[in-house]
Amino acid sequence: MFRRVYLDNSATTPVDREVVAAMLPFFSEKFGNASSIHFFGQEARGAVDKARHQVAELINARPNEIVFTSGGTEANNLAIRGLIEANEKYGKHIITSAIEHSAVREVCQDLEKRGYAVTYLPVYEDGIVKIEDVSDAIREDTILVSVMTANNEIGTIQPVEEIGRLVRRRRENGKKIWFHTDAVQAVGKIPVDVEAIGCDLLSVSAHKIHAPKGIGALYARRGVRLHSQNIGGHQERERRGGTESVPFIVAFGKACELAKNNLAESQIILKNLRDKFEQAVGEIISDFEFNGNRENRLPHISNISFCTIEGEGLLINLDLQGVAVSTGSACSSGSLEPSPVIRALGRDDELARGAIRFSFGKENTAADLEYVLEVLPKAIENLRRLSPNRLKQAAK
Ligand SMILES: Cc1ncc(COP(=O)(O)O)c(C=O)c1O
Repeated sequence: MFRRVYLDNSATTPVDREVVAAMLPFFSEKFGNASSIHFFGQEARGAVDKARHQVAELINARPNEIVFTSGGTEANNLAIRGLIEANEKYGKHIITSAIEHSAVREVCQDLEKRGYAVTYLPVYEDGIVKIEDVSDAIREDTILVSVMTANNEIGTIQPVEEIGRLVRRRRENGKKIWFHTDAVQAVGKIPVDVEAIGCDLLSVSAHKIHAPKGIGALYARRGVRLHSQNIGGHQERERRGGTESVPFIVAFGKACELAKNNLAESQIILKNLRDKFEQAVGEIISDFEFNGNRENRLPHISNISFCTIEGEGLLINLDLQGVAVSTGSACSSGSLEPSPVIRALGRDDELARGAIRFSFGKENTAADLEYVLEVLPKAIENLRRLSPNRLKQAAK
């Protein structure tokens, strides 16, 4: 029987009912501008302050280190551009990884056009940056290291605590250098603690943790200078101009509170679902490769390259049967270019094109899994039968 199964929770998640309930009064009843001095304004300000605490608690930050933004993309832009513009005189070299989200990668590429030098660290077969490579890449003029906490396509977790220690040690020796990490995929899925990581800047997005799209935050350690990218407003202590979206901020705060309370349990549930899925795939499907390190990764992501088929074809085929997956970063879907993340693992074009990301969420059930395991092998079999690669091989 046809059913819809959503396995694209790394792209976005449904908004939690409790989150919707928390935000609703802030549209029509408690609608004040958080900068206004009167009662309405102060009511909104109180709600923003509460949410700031909730976000800070999830990542072990202080509330005044949280800067609300429109999401992860803006947080990454503010982190990188804001930091280098405020500290330009110390150097023009940035270190990042080869598998960053486009909101980091393309900012770095843009900066290269403006005279900055960027080192893109390799991630090897397992999708993980080596700390020695980070250390070797640091130059006299390096001012920023930006390496994601966990990857959005393959889920691999980077050695951010080691990078944090390395950067801190250099700074203690007098070097002007800072560490940013994009934790958009990691927050709410694994413990993320800015003190343990030792980062200066950390990006978060609300819609990956059951809050609405269009809200996120940048953690900016106390004392880190940032040049605001939104000029013309003094909100967020001059770090991000623009009237605060109170309903979305309230929703984000509530989602952080729920994520913190449910973290331990949800990690186990997601990992169980994911592991059962992978085990079954191993038993019923042939000719595939798991992408990325299988131990050191987020609990909810499984990325698999199926030989001799195009990921896009499989995505469409599964969608017709009600199953939503992704070929990688949501932003690059629709393009037949192989994913740069999968290519960075050293995969050839065929395997890179055959990559599919299955990302699980708290709404997924055992019945969902059963349905997917019924339609997936059939879809693969059909595509392989029609695959030009397979036909070419048969004709040889
Ligand atoms: C790792 C990572 N960084 C940044 C973003 C962008 O976040 P937002 O959609 O909130 O702009 C995403 C979204 O997919 C992501 O996965």
